[in-house]
Amino acid sequence: MPYVEFSESFLQELADRNDIVDVVGSYVRLTKRSGANLFGLCPFHNEKTPSFSVAPDRQIYHCFGCGKGGSVISFIMEIENLSFPDAVAFLARRAGMELPEGNSGDREQSRQRERLLALNREAARFFFAELTRPGGLPAQNYIRKRQISLEMVKRFGLGFAPDNFYSLTNAMRAKGFTEQELITGGLANANKGGKGVHDVFRNRLMFPVIDIRGNVIGFSGRILGDGEPKYLNSRETPVFNKSRNLFGLNLAKKSKSGYLLLAEGNIDVVSLHQAGFDGAVASLGTSLTPDQARLISRHTREVVIAYDNDGAGQKAAQRAIGIFRDLDVSVRVLQMEGAKDPDEFIKAKGSDAFRALIEASKSDVEYRLRTAEGHYDLGDDEQKVAYLKEAAGIIAQLESPVEREVYAMRLADRAGVDKAVLRDEINRGRKKDYYREKKKEDRDAARSLSRSVQPRDRNLRYENERSALAEEGVVRLMYCDPTLFEGVTLEPEDFSSPLLGRVYALLRERAASHSGLSPAVLSGMFTPEEEAHITEVLNKTEILANAKRALADYIGVIRSEQQALTAQQDLRAFAASQRNKKGYGG
Ligand code: CTP
Ligand code: MN
Repeated sequence: MPYVEFSESFLQELADRNDIVDVVGSYVRLTKRSGANLFGLCPFHNEKTPSFSVAPDRQIYHCFGCGKGGSVISFIMEIENLSFPDAVAFLARRAGMELPEGNSGDREQSRQRERLLALNREAARFFFAELTRPGGLPAQNYIRKRQISLEMVKRFGLGFAPDNFYSLTNAMRAKGFTEQELITGGLANANKGGKGVHDVFRNRLMFPVIDIRGNVIGFSGRILGDGEPKYLNSRETPVFNKSRNLFGLNLAKKSKSGYLLLAEGNIDVVSLHQAGFDGAVASLGTSLTPDQARLISRHTREVVIAYDNDGAGQKAAQRAIGIFRDLDVSVRVLQMEGAKDPDEFIKAKGSDAFRALIEASKSDVEYRLRTAEGHYDLGDDEQKVAYLKEAAGIIAQLESPVEREVYAMRLADRAGVDKAVLRDEINRGRKKDYYREKKKEDRDAARSLSRSVQPRDRNLRYENERSALAEEGVVRLMYCDPTLFEGVTLEPEDFSSPLLGRVYALLRERAASHSGLSPAVLSGMFTPEEEAHITEVLNKTEILANAKRALADYIGVIRSEQQALTAQQDLRAFAASQRNKKGYGG
């Protein structure tokens, strides 16, 4: 979705004051390699040889491996996982610039967000008040049964949604919120008949979901007792995105414990905080998403996973380990025995016992080694060999030689094998991994070369590759030297690629008004996929020495392809008319 809230001069200044080399350099170690460009390991995909390039002269980045690319703004969008306006705000803050007042579209959008946040806040107040009223007795009883303290009720702002179809809607309408706002905010549904609305949450214990800025962005409602669905969550709204938020993070981010505890359930989180583990969070009913992991990684370098003690929980833990590994967050996995989840464990054995569990929790490697061990019968020689191979493979993936040594030693002791033999096996595993990785990178590079004609995004596919390549050339030349437009009769409609046609039109407009087109401005006008492709196009080398001549050649190709196409169409039309005359198929 293109955004146009910021003036170009503002974006230009923003880009000028946030040099792409500085900004990217604070995330990626860049070294000078060929020509004017800097190279580093791509932060957006895993690689061992640098294919991520930054061009200081053009102020763009481009990865030859994964194809991501764009301006300093799109870089921040991608790496900080921010929307365009948020990335702009981020860079403005970085450069100490004031944000301009937005235009109407921007204001309308942020007004809506503010209204919805205000609505959620009022709703949370309403649910809390309902809990304390006599009508809230069923919820009070449930809270007592789950042994949740009053302090936790207050800290988490728990509440009660009455068993009634109109209690929240009526209360919110009285506060001036419209039915439409209630629907958009995910708190009401339209009545079947079409007239009026009714409450989404009824007869439930309400958990407000609060973001790190302290906004109530949505709700999770638990049924009081047994029944289905056990939880009801706010649907996606302009302010609520389940996969990008975590329950409890607003509190956990303040934890001094040095780690975050990742649990599955809301109740687990409340219970953990109550027992003094104030770093507890839970993903909102989804398995941990990369976005959530990234959010966590901004607050801690260490996570302890305390998922449910069942097959699903173990599987989810394995997945989470993989996600965190990529983010350089160290993970330990807690092994609970005799309880299905942290809530049950703490109730049965107390918080000291839980603390002991955390202290004894295994690093992710140990955890994976142990899980693997469980799959083999170590009394059987053949199985033992298979286990050692798998274990060596796990250890081989560790980047640090010291770590590898520690685990190898431990494993050798445990399994009663010679350490040297195990070390050989691990080294073999590493070579294999290295070559596999290297081969894959070579393959990717080869693929990207052979495919370099076509945009990576299928939606942008070129209909006519020959013409499109020439169109790319035109765009590149015009971008580098707008004076070339003089006397050129090529029209955007002449382009076979609509995207390149749009870029051309933009460049021409700019040339007419004698303003350049900064990549930062592009970020606001095209989708990330389009922008990545445009960057790729602009990033290819173009020799400007003979620009006029090159331009004429490119235009020649475009024209001849156009004529070929017209001729083909004429031919087809002619054939069709002939068929009709002869009454084919009729
Ligand atoms: N969840 C959900 N929808 C469901 C069931 C669960 O969104 N129908 C989410 C909730 O966020 C819940 C989490 O998944 O907190 C874990 O589910 P579960 O273990 O069943 O819930 P708990 O909060 O642990 O509740 P309890 O201790 O009462 O079982
Ligand atoms: Mn649970």
